[in-house]
Amino acid sequence: MSDQVKMTPLNYSADRPKAKNPVKIMDLSLRDGHQSLFATRGRTEDMIPVAELMDEIGFWAIETWGGATFDTMHRFLNEDPWQRLRTLKRYIKKTPFSMLLRAQNLVGYRNYADDLAYAFVDRAAENGMDIFRTFDALNDYRNFETVVKQIKKSGKHFQGCICYTLTEPRLGGEVYNLDYYVDRAKTLEDMGADSVCVKDMAGLMAPYDAYPLIKALKKAVKVPIHLHSHFTSGMSPMTFLKAIEAGVDILDTCMTPYAYRTSHAAIEPLVMALLGTSRDTGFDIKKLAVINEILEKEVLPKYKHLLDDSKVSIIDINVLLHQTPGGMLSNLVNQLREMDALDKIDEVYKELPRVRKDLGQIPLVTPTSQIVGVQTVNNVLHDTPDERYKMITGQVKDLCYGLYGKTAVPINAELQKKALKGYPRGETPITCRPAEVLEPELDKAKAEIGDLAVDMDDLILYAQFPVTGKKFLEWKYGKSEPPASVKPITMEEVKKRDELIKKAKAGKLIEPKGDTPPKSPALRTFNVFVDNEYFNVEVDPTGDMQAVPVAPRAAAAPAPAPAQPAAAAPAQAPAPEPVAPAGGTLLLAPMPGMIVKYEKKAGDAVKKGDTLVVLEAMKMENALTAPCDGTVSGIKFASGDTVAKGAVLCVIS
Ligand code: CO
Repeated sequence: MSDQVKMTPLNYSADRPKAKNPVKIMDLSLRDGHQSLFATRGRTEDMIPVAELMDEIGFWAIETWGGATFDTMHRFLNEDPWQRLRTLKRYIKKTPFSMLLRAQNLVGYRNYADDLAYAFVDRAAENGMDIFRTFDALNDYRNFETVVKQIKKSGKHFQGCICYTLTEPRLGGEVYNLDYYVDRAKTLEDMGADSVCVKDMAGLMAPYDAYPLIKALKKAVKVPIHLHSHFTSGMSPMTFLKAIEAGVDILDTCMTPYAYRTSHAAIEPLVMALLGTSRDTGFDIKKLAVINEILEKEVLPKYKHLLDDSKVSIIDINVLLHQTPGGMLSNLVNQLREMDALDKIDEVYKELPRVRKDLGQIPLVTPTSQIVGVQTVNNVLHDTPDERYKMITGQVKDLCYGLYGKTAVPINAELQKKALKGYPRGETPITCRPAEVLEPELDKAKAEIGDLAVDMDDLILYAQFPVTGKKFLEWKYGKSEPPASVKPITMEEVKKRDELIKKAKAGKLIEPKGDTPPKSPALRTFNVFVDNEYFNVEVDPTGDMQAVPVAPRAAAAPAPAPAQPAAAAPAQAPAPEPVAPAGGTLLLAPMPGMIVKYEKKAGDAVKKGDTLVVLEAMKMENALTAPCDGTVSGIKFASGDTVAKGAVLCVIS
């Protein structure tokens, strides 16, 4: 035991003597916790029951916002992200709020212009944010300059993050060694960081790397050192203990129901482990238990179905081998599953380090984890023996251009050249601070959205998420009806669902009678196994999901119906089989996703290789190009529509 961790007389109660140097704790349940375990689907209404109780614990801060919450809330939950901040502030009055800020990426997936960055931080501070945990996926701190100016101007806490990543099994090697992290920490302190956080998003930090690392950082900088380490690999509780012994100031944990798996270590065992030592948190374990009970009984049943239960183990040893952060892992699995290609996961694991190396050994964290992840999936699904990088995403092109910043080592020159061929900003990559080449965007956004954005908060939302943001603002102001899929699930529904599962397990599942809707061509059949019982289940998606079966035919056939927005078609109407007109070629969606925009309209002449459609999948934009010369027809979708894999996006004839 280190000399830092001396025992004092053991005392279980909350009024036990205060430790000499208590470990400070930030709770992540309300942001990273549900982001890691439940695809960020946590609703504000489910945070309120524990908010006041959590304010009583004595956390250094509670992470309430940022990361993927902003995107998910308006897109999938029909919630205004700004409102969550104001609502939670009414219940959590003492404990500071922390948010995860992706530096110049704000809470989106690309670098935004400076005017938008200033406005976003200003509004976040005004709406109640206290601590801005800022990171850049490439650890290129030129991307911090703008947001830090505004954080300081707003009088808030600037926490500078270093993304922890490795190229070797353990700390060290050519790129990411002890000197690298010490240098990054000093740079952050020089920039005015009020604290420095090492952000181990994939849970790669081994206990015996944490010890020398934290020791070195404590020696190199004066500001508090904060450690964020995901549980994914199973090491984080051990890593925390060594970090505590090395003198770490602040640690990140979750309440037990939001802990472990790809999330974080739980607070309760840590409180007990440190009880009576010189680093005792001082937290009341009984108060934590009360919060646990509420979450377990009243909140988590609504989210249980989102938990990835494909594995029994809560530890993913693949992370130790592939260095993939939790969120990225679940995205990859979901994406492959949607494309009926889950059997390709091992190929994806093999391809991932190759893509990462080609792209300059970048850390894997949002958005670089998606950039590397989606490109990897594209390569595995679309590359041929004679051509690699057959479908390069828009974001990989941006990265190759330098729009995300400087990579740790240079990007593979051949890939860079291929990616930048015909790139609209130019074929020569930039070396300056990326935002310097970006035109201001707030005025442009305002001109596009007009009065639908009532205030600056609306405008900032729209500017970062033009397609889904506009949809959300239409729901918010009653211009269109939100789909059933964004409505919350109630405990009543949860009970019904659990009943059904119970019945199925007991072999008493009775077919419900009543008005049976006609089966659509989108119908899919699943074999469901409950213990050793077997059910054949047919699932027919409803709502605005357009599932068109893939069956391109070469034979002569009538021309497709005239273009019409997909959303206008009644959900039950059987979609016609996609058939190409004589001599026509179909452009099919290579993956499920959302139409960002059509670059061409019906009647336009196109050349092979011209971009026809921009399709967003896994938050990455993919430019789909014309497979041949011809004239465009048969556009059935519009911007914002969701399409299934194989949907006919247009016809070229
Ligand atoms: Co995290």
